[in-house]
Amino acid sequence: MLAVISQWAIGLTDLVAAFLFLFGLKRMSSPATAASGIRVAGFGMVAAVLVSFLYAFTVDAAVRPRLVVNLALAIAALAIGGVGAWFVGRRVAMTAMPQMVAIYNGMGGGAAGGIAAVELFGNRSHGAPQLVVTLLGAAIGAVSMSGSVIAWAKLQGVLGKPLRFGGQRILNGLVFLAVVAVGAWIAVLGLVGMAPVLPTATWITIFFALALVFGILMTLPIGGADMPVVISIYNAFTGLAVGFEGFVLSNPALMIAGMVVGAAGLLLTLLMAKAMNRSVANVLFSNFGAAPARAKGKGVSGTERETQASDAGIQMHYATSVIIVPGYGLAAAQAQQKLYEFVKLLLAARVQVRFAIHPVAGRMPGQMDVLLAEAGVPYDLIFQLDDINSDFASTDVVLVIGANDVVNPAARTDKSSPIFGMPILDADKARQVFVIKRGQGKGYSGIVNALFYAPNCNMVFGDAQAVLVKMIEAVRGLGAAAA
Ligand code: TAP
Repeated sequence: MLAVISQWAIGLTDLVAAFLFLFGLKRMSSPATAASGIRVAGFGMVAAVLVSFLYAFTVDAAVRPRLVVNLALAIAALAIGGVGAWFVGRRVAMTAMPQMVAIYNGMGGGAAGGIAAVELFGNRSHGAPQLVVTLLGAAIGAVSMSGSVIAWAKLQGVLGKPLRFGGQRILNGLVFLAVVAVGAWIAVLGLVGMAPVLPTATWITIFFALALVFGILMTLPIGGADMPVVISIYNAFTGLAVGFEGFVLSNPALMIAGMVVGAAGLLLTLLMAKAMNRSVANVLFSNFGAAPARAKGKGVSGTERETQASDAGIQMHYATSVIIVPGYGLAAAQAQQKLYEFVKLLLAARVQVRFAIHPVAGRMPGQMDVLLAEAGVPYDLIFQLDDINSDFASTDVVLVIGANDVVNPAARTDKSSPIFGMPILDADKARQVFVIKRGQGKGYSGIVNALFYAPNCNMVFGDAQAVLVKMIEAVRGLGAAAA
């Protein structure tokens, strides 16, 4: 009786959890509702995890003696993971977010691989579809885990330059084929019951080892700067692996969560590829093992004109309309609070101020939206590329803060440029542009930015936070002088 009630409770809670995942995801599509969306999906996850303890009432008699130990292990794992994630999540800097996503994603892949390992080593798969799906989930989960760990190490600076050598793609291809061959062999052993040359457990170990090695080999040649796209692809892999293992365990919550993560990861990969004007095939294959193109900006002449922070700040104070373009440097300088302080002064002076966000500004999707939301910038001041690009031409001043590639006009005009075709924010079309950056540092693509040499552009050199402090002082000084 208890077993039947538990099954019902699990089924019902999984259904509610699935609804909360989807509803939460829907809310994450807008910065205004994203925070509550994360909470809603989090409630769904907590409910799905808690209700899974009811499985204790449904297990076979043979398993019961180990139940207490298994429950204690599950609670200990949850406590360690939960407390660790809480502290790390609260302390992580916005610029370190990509590495955190990478390592959590690796853990997801590892968890899916772990479920598959229990099924395979315990010889618990019944029937061909279940065994094949377990093997697929095992391989994808293991690749995602080791690949994500390498991605984390690169972003964290633990691993240096991309490792490239002759014949790398051939080696990667051979290891991939070996994973498929050993996986197929394990399936044959399990389904036909042929006598193995080695014990089946040894084949399973070889299978996992090969999948882990493949994940490492696949990620090592890729440059650190391409990692966000790679992490997003591994995110899709992890979702797929979790979904497969949910099928193996007949756990609907895992299946739905896995599918949602897989689909979201895939969509994000597609969006990033589109925003960088690269096909997914190009991101997936041509850049794996090849150095990203590095070229100097062609046809860039003249000199950069420097101006003082105070002059730029005062000019914006007297402007009618200002568009602010934030980029990676804003996150690096952690200058979002100062930026909003400055914006509030402009708004008080009746200047129309808007933020223009490029889809790949910064180093991870949505980084700028999160940064501005963190500073308290109202959502109705924040506009995405398509919604604001046509307004630059009729804008008095554009303030570019720590952004480079996303405002480089070479993307429109220079066919030889590595960013040619990438949609950019048309900052150069405004009447006056101010660019805050520290010096001659290049953007992510490593090319010179023609905008910085344009006649309507002035450079304000310095750390974004320090420059904004000077701008705030200058504008406040105007008020004091008037009083
Ligand atoms: P970037 O092109 O990387 O330029 C950032 C600029 O910020 C640099 O020119 C740097 O110049 C400046 N900077 C750094 N620290 C600063 C500080 N403390 N104060 C002031 N300025 C500072 O940034 P972006 O325009 O945001 O473009 C993003 C790039 O990343 C794109 O090329 C995109 O394709 C790539 N990417 C993005 C993603 C996602 S999902 N966002 C994923 C993969 C690749 P100085 O050194 O002179 O200060």
